[in-house]
Amino acid sequence: MIKKAVIPAAGYGTRMLPITKAQPKEMVPVVHKPVIQYVVEEAYYSGIKDILIITGKGKRAIEDHFDRSDLPKKDRYLAELDRILEEIDIFFVRQKEQKGLGDAVRYAESFVDDEPFALLLGDTITFPPCTKELIHIHNKYKTPIVAVEEVPMEKVSLYGIIACKKIGGLVYQIEDLIEKPSVDDAPTNLAILGRYILTPDIFDCIQETKPGKDNEIQLTDAMKLLNNRKRMYGYLFRGKRYDIGNKLDWLKANMELALKDEEIGGEIREFIKSMEVYHD
Ligand code: G1P
Repeated sequence: MIKKAVIPAAGYGTRMLPITKAQPKEMVPVVHKPVIQYVVEEAYYSGIKDILIITGKGKRAIEDHFDRSDLPKKDRYLAELDRILEEIDIFFVRQKEQKGLGDAVRYAESFVDDEPFALLLGDTITFPPCTKELIHIHNKYKTPIVAVEEVPMEKVSLYGIIACKKIGGLVYQIEDLIEKPSVDDAPTNLAILGRYILTPDIFDCIQETKPGKDNEIQLTDAMKLLNNRKRMYGYLFRGKRYDIGNKLDWLKANMELALKDEEIGGEIREFIKSMEVYHD
């Protein structure tokens, strides 16, 4: 039973500059909502009511966004957010220094206590909610699990990559994890996409992890230690993932989700068609 979610949202939005010069990358809008709201909703719709967001310098707008609003509830998206906020508790902790994702996750130790927990990166959106699927797999196998997706080989150096053997369906047993390998060093093209179920022994592993790629404490390196101690599984997610940490994917996410939107999708489709006519 996974009851708690941790959302790291402390990293710089370097690849989104200058949009993120004075606002957190997690607050960048995708159609109707900031990215982090999609992530909190994913946790909520996966059955989780206790959420810890790890923030840091320059991230205060995230805390303000999750205050109950005193604005008139005419906007349906605002009303929906307020309804969810009624049912969940969101806690915040600030990472003292930006020392990497592994270091940020360390701040969740007392919140998590002795239970397995879901970890959702705050700049990544998944449809349908990947966390819900991971919880389902975790309930069956009771091991830590990372969601992965296939990426083009030339992109492996942007992700944590797993080496694994298939144990059935979309589930793999992890043999190794490597943070952002070169094409030559990558054992597969199965990339960690930013959704995890971890057990509290990850915190000891983080403690023992030395700075790795980019001189940061990497969560992937800590999971490599965890995988040496207990079996870890990978789950091949078949849905859509948008990494809002870079401009191209952010724009693609806006286009795809706007096209799917029941309120504005039709008009956007017509607009795009009219642009194609214009360019012909
Ligand atoms: C982080 C993780 C990486 C993972 C990626 C998913 O990297 O370190 O293992 O594949 O998120 O987006 P970042 O994108 O923060 O550089």
